[in-house]
Amino acid sequence: MELIKEIKTMQKISQKEALGNKTIGFVPTMGYLHEGHLQLVEKAVEDNDTTVVSIFVNPTQFGPEEDYEEYPRDLKRDLDLLRERKVDYVFYPAVEDVYPEGYATYVQVEKGTDVLCGRSRPNHFKGVTTVVSKLFNMVRPHRAYFGQKDGQQLLIIRRMVDDLNMDIEVVACPTVREEGGLAMSSRNKYLSPEEREAALVINQTLQKAREWIEKGERDGWEVKKKMEREIKAEPLATLDYASVVSRENLQELGEIKGPIMIAIAAFIGSTRLIDNVWLEVN
Ligand code: PAJ
Repeated sequence: MELIKEIKTMQKISQKEALGNKTIGFVPTMGYLHEGHLQLVEKAVEDNDTTVVSIFVNPTQFGPEEDYEEYPRDLKRDLDLLRERKVDYVFYPAVEDVYPEGYATYVQVEKGTDVLCGRSRPNHFKGVTTVVSKLFNMVRPHRAYFGQKDGQQLLIIRRMVDDLNMDIEVVACPTVREEGGLAMSSRNKYLSPEEREAALVINQTLQKAREWIEKGERDGWEVKKKMEREIKAEPLATLDYASVVSRENLQELGEIKGPIMIAIAAFIGSTRLIDNVWLEVN
């Protein structure tokens, strides 16, 4: 496994692999890896000749009051985990190389980015689509792997790849959970034992909403109201949103129908957590 820090070196390697007719699988991450990331990595290794994992805590997707500085980092541990999974290249660019003096270009998806997480994190998805586009230009992958855990992010990236004719297959991978159902996240590290217990309310509420819908509930506002009630009943939780949206356009649904996503974001103490469930409703 090779650690690549220079953007130019990464591009040369990708070029060489492509000339040799090798397929490149790419897993973009912000590091502090857990089993959720590693499932994407395993799938990429399985599907492709060459696997590249990037580790880059992207400043442009964090708001001014958010945890960019404190975001957990542990490169040595990440490298050990990736070596075990037979990754070929770890791409670890420096912030000042990704965003040099005078940097001025952003990629913005104009639909679905101002709802759900986009409402409380106004420039978040602009930062995500910008850095993912840049990483795609640096790594030139055939396939890129994203987790369903960040459902809105995944759908927005699909939109961007389609809209900009990027010749990349976006592969969605299921959410990996802790015992008890809490979705794995690098931010779970911030939770105290009591908060970790309280955080279970997020997935439990999603599972209840799934059951209501599976039993025939089709009123999106009713499901939303009942989910809000469940989250508010947990004293350590502060609700950001609980929504039933279409996976086609991320808009909230009055009538539940088609490919949907039930999504929740809540603060547990001061840690913001997100989770979601996908359903096909006739
Ligand atoms: P990060 O939060 O590190 O996540 C990297 C990838 O791992 C994302 O595709 C995310 O959906 C996936 N992932 C995280 N937790 C998961 C879980 N429990 N189960 C399955 N997949 C999981 O998402 C980002 O970084 C950044 O926004 C990035 C795309 C790298 C751009 O900066």
